[in-house]
Amino acid sequence: MLTFIWAQDKDGYIGKDNTMPWRLPADLQHFKKETNGHTIVMGRKTYESIGKALPNRETIVLTRDTNYTLPDAKVVHSKEAVLELATGENVFITGGAEIYRLFLGDADALIVTHVEANCGGDTRFPAIQWSDWKLTRRVDGVRDVKNDLDFWYGWYEKIGE
Ligand SMILES: NC(=O)c1ccc[n+]([C@@H]2O[C@H](COP(=O)([O-])OP(=O)(O)OC[C@H]3O[C@@H](n4cnc5c(N)ncnc54)[C@H](OP(=O)(O)O)[C@@H]3O)[C@@H](O)[C@H]2O)c1
Repeated sequence: MLTFIWAQDKDGYIGKDNTMPWRLPADLQHFKKETNGHTIVMGRKTYESIGKALPNRETIVLTRDTNYTLPDAKVVHSKEAVLELATGENVFITGGAEIYRLFLGDADALIVTHVEANCGGDTRFPAIQWSDWKLTRRVDGVRDVKNDLDFWYGWYEKIGE
């Protein structure tokens, strides 16, 4: 099973200058909770923007560079290598845009943080057919001094599966 997890603003922006366009520590905690103990897959650029593998998760990094190695993550070079793994476990696709685009047709479930603001950026989530997805759970984020934006978490299942 492949589960996508990401945060986007009202215009679909997910990134700016190789980082997130907003500061929302609550969303980082949500990401940690949802992916804890699982395998997460990310593109080389997203890995480098974080700078290290996240604890208590197996990290898989996609690159076309066959000489690329990492001390704390498994490096793979093809989509197929990831899909094979996802037949036996719930694998989380964690971005960025290129990686979401690559796997979008294979996604089984989505976990989306909707940031209700226009933050701008340079990287957007790829075009998605929202009518293919059913919102099964919604939780409002708590706006406070550290998370000074309106946001909510949505869990979606693919319609017809
Ligand atoms: N808001 C969110 O939830 C969220 C989540 C994740 C990331 N982001 C943001 O997204 C931005 C980065 O996204 P991005 O699209 O620029 O980069 P990315 O998807 O993180 O990484 C792209 C890289 O993945 C590798 N790749 C792509 N397709 C491949 C394939 N078919 N086979 C093998 N390797 C492949 C290539 O690495 P090589 O060049 O090494 O070959 C490519 O340069 C950042 O701003 C980041 O902060 C946001």
